[in-house]
Amino acid sequence: MRVAGTVRAPGDKSITHRALMLAALGRGVSHVGGALTSLDARSSARVLRQLGAEISPLRDGTVLTVTGRGRFRAPQRTLDCGNSGTTTRLLLGLLAGHRLRATLTGDASLRRRPMRRVTQPLAQMGARFEERGGDGLPLTVRGGRLRPLRHAMPVSSAQIKSALLLAGVVGEVAVDLLEPKGRSRDHTERMLQAFGYQVGERDGWIEFRPGGRIEPFDIQVPGDPSSAAFLVGTSILAEGGELRIAGVGLNPTRIGYLAVLQRMGARVSTDAADSSFGEPVADLIARPASLRGTEVTAGEIPGLIDEIPLLAVLASRGSGETIFRDVGELRVKESDRLSLIATNLRAVGGKAEVRGDDLHIEGVGLPPRGRVRTAADHRIAMAFAVLGTLPGARIAIDDMACAAVSFPGFPETLRRIRAGRSR
Ligand code: S3P
Repeated sequence: MRVAGTVRAPGDKSITHRALMLAALGRGVSHVGGALTSLDARSSARVLRQLGAEISPLRDGTVLTVTGRGRFRAPQRTLDCGNSGTTTRLLLGLLAGHRLRATLTGDASLRRRPMRRVTQPLAQMGARFEERGGDGLPLTVRGGRLRPLRHAMPVSSAQIKSALLLAGVVGEVAVDLLEPKGRSRDHTERMLQAFGYQVGERDGWIEFRPGGRIEPFDIQVPGDPSSAAFLVGTSILAEGGELRIAGVGLNPTRIGYLAVLQRMGARVSTDAADSSFGEPVADLIARPASLRGTEVTAGEIPGLIDEIPLLAVLASRGSGETIFRDVGELRVKESDRLSLIATNLRAVGGKAEVRGDDLHIEGVGLPPRGRVRTAADHRIAMAFAVLGTLPGARIAIDDMACAAVSFPGFPETLRRIRAGRSR
């Protein structure tokens, strides 16, 4: 199989959620170009409309218009966040500072995901929560006046961090946060700085100070480096050719996977560097490579948290062993990714094992063959679809439609780059 041509990754999921939320908070009309139109992005748009924002239909290739009212109004119905943890957790932070009552729910996967990591510190700030399903959804929030917060986070997580920073914005109070291991993605900090808020770092603590103001804005959302990773991975496994992925966001807190791939022997270069709304952007050029095993340290994990399924399938084709240290957080993603990566790799003839919170993968040479169970997790489906591009591979994936959670048209894009007829 060869790869060729130029493709665009879909808009960045994290930045799209944040842009929609901040635009809904501004008073007036904002424009969001290059927005992701996936199921997760639609979940954010749907609940923000229920909270009073007007958002034009999410269609590829159009610039979204978002009309915000300055504050949210009380929703008439339960807010259904679909499969999206980012929608839920960031919204909990925003709602904590609003004097209203709202109930949030989601699909079966999202209802199982832990929310106390966000609601406990928000409760310390003064918001009230009624749990209906233990540490998960459905959950009712009653927001109001907030107090400042100084909080050591239990895990390095951009969703927790952003929820608390956004509570600081709406409640106009100071928020100091400590991330335990490695720095999670910092899109929220960058956006808030663009609106005049002070967000700095002192002795390892992230310090947010009120004083800015969310005004209507225009943004061009870069391509999602996490979605681009699947195209990079396909190119690495190819037997020839070269693929250009245009306009990918290269925020340093998002591209830990490129450093790991380089250590493993891959050659991915960048070209046409630019920047958009405080975020670096460039084209990625990926080529085939033989990979060798590596150790991915605990401190590197937050910077490549979403790329572990893909890195794991690539490691299964490298020489020697790859170890991902301290990846217990994968158990509470859209699925129990830690166990699914290992069982699915074994199901297609690979060698993978979970030891404590570490994931060990041994490279193998035979073509991967077998059945993959995704538990409707988009990144598991896409990672194994990449593995399925190997010559001689025969992999049956139980649900490919779930890729639309973050990457609309993924199967078509994969076919296009393999045929070398990309656009
Ligand atoms: C995200 C943060 C990460 C990531 C998710 C998107 C965000 O989650 O896995 O896909 O946009 O803030 P955690 O913060 O829970 O690690």
